[in-house]
Amino acid sequence: MGNFTDYRLPLEAFQSQRTPFYYYNLQLLHDTLEGINRLTTDVPYRVHYALKANSNPHLLAIIAQAGLGADLVSGGELKAALAAGFAPERMAYAGVGKTDWEIRLALEHGVGCFNVESMPEMEVIGQLAQEQGCTASIAIRVNPDIDAHTHRYITTGTADNKFGIAIEQLPHVVERALTMPGVRLRGLHFHIGSQLTDMKPYVMLCDTVNRLQDYYEARGVRFELINVGGGLGVDYNEPDAHPIADFDSYFGVFKRHLRLRPGQELHFELGRSVVAQCGSLITRVIYVKSGRNKRFAIVDAGMTDLLRPALYEARHLVQNLSSTALACDTYDVVGPVCESSDVFAHDCTLPLTQRGDLIALRSAGAYGESMASTYNLRSLPGTLF
Ligand code: LLP
Repeated sequence: MGNFTDYRLPLEAFQSQRTPFYYYNLQLLHDTLEGINRLTTDVPYRVHYALKANSNPHLLAIIAQAGLGADLVSGGELKAALAAGFAPERMAYAGVGKTDWEIRLALEHGVGCFNVESMPEMEVIGQLAQEQGCTASIAIRVNPDIDAHTHRYITTGTADNKFGIAIEQLPHVVERALTMPGVRLRGLHFHIGSQLTDMKPYVMLCDTVNRLQDYYEARGVRFELINVGGGLGVDYNEPDAHPIADFDSYFGVFKRHLRLRPGQELHFELGRSVVAQCGSLITRVIYVKSGRNKRFAIVDAGMTDLLRPALYEARHLVQNLSSTALACDTYDVVGPVCESSDVFAHDCTLPLTQRGDLIALRSAGAYGESMASTYNLRSLPGTLF
């Protein structure tokens, strides 16, 4: 584990850069990957990186180099993963709405596993595989109906959302998968949500997996792999105190609670916990404006650069990097986009802030750059490594 001083933001290097831009600390990324690899070497665990968290080619190349597999949700991500050097057999392709061209492309490249989310999708995959004269390896995504107690937009494993196949429908789908041409059933897939800091939902997931495995084993069905998805959370409040996610607790839960069968692999799909803390969005204060009741620090980054606060009311630690003032004041830190939700922080205490100051929005490496848009015809943010 690194000491926080190792990962300090290089203010000098920022001064001459055009803002806003994402700064990525590659040392922290390396240390994070090393932490993951250290905990997964002497066990049959395979960690796939969820490209949706951040598909910056520079980061992808480093993550591929570290030996992680790739978790994909589109043909575009498949192309990016191939370009970055991920091995196709170490790729898992998920998503409720895979289109025909995307399935064909994945078959052509021989992706390791399709995570199948519905019966109609499985039929189409089987048919397209037969047309291409190959067999698609699949895992069936099970909706375990476990509440991850995270934001409602990023909870995925409850009965009322669109993901996966309900447990009561599973026997029917498994039976079809075992007999239909064009597919080979490799395992079961789960994902219960994102930004989980409490490990209890994972313990519940392990119990569900154990029960399902017992059920199928009794019926003579053996799975090569179990995929438990991703979701490990990071510390958005104190990124310097916890620059590396708590992989010990996370992998420890599965080591203690999930009964793997001999020869079976356990797959993971981690996104946020791999890249969140290595990225900060760096922005400059354009104006400080005093309203009737509030002071606004208007910065040159907006919701188009970092959507999470506007979309999920997410909080990112805001730091004024350049102010040397000892006195503080309270500011609403807002972007320039014409939307009332374009606010990064309400009533944020900062050292006295003025036009030109450099501000960091921390823990922005995951779902930051990858969710950026050009709304209002704004430019996409730059990058600095
Ligand atoms: N596997 C599946 C099937 C997923 O749906 C996701 C994320 C992951 C893996 C990776 O989860 P992670 O380890 O990153 O939590 N944009 C939202 C998060 C959306 C997560 C979507 N699915 C945010 O900014 O919080």
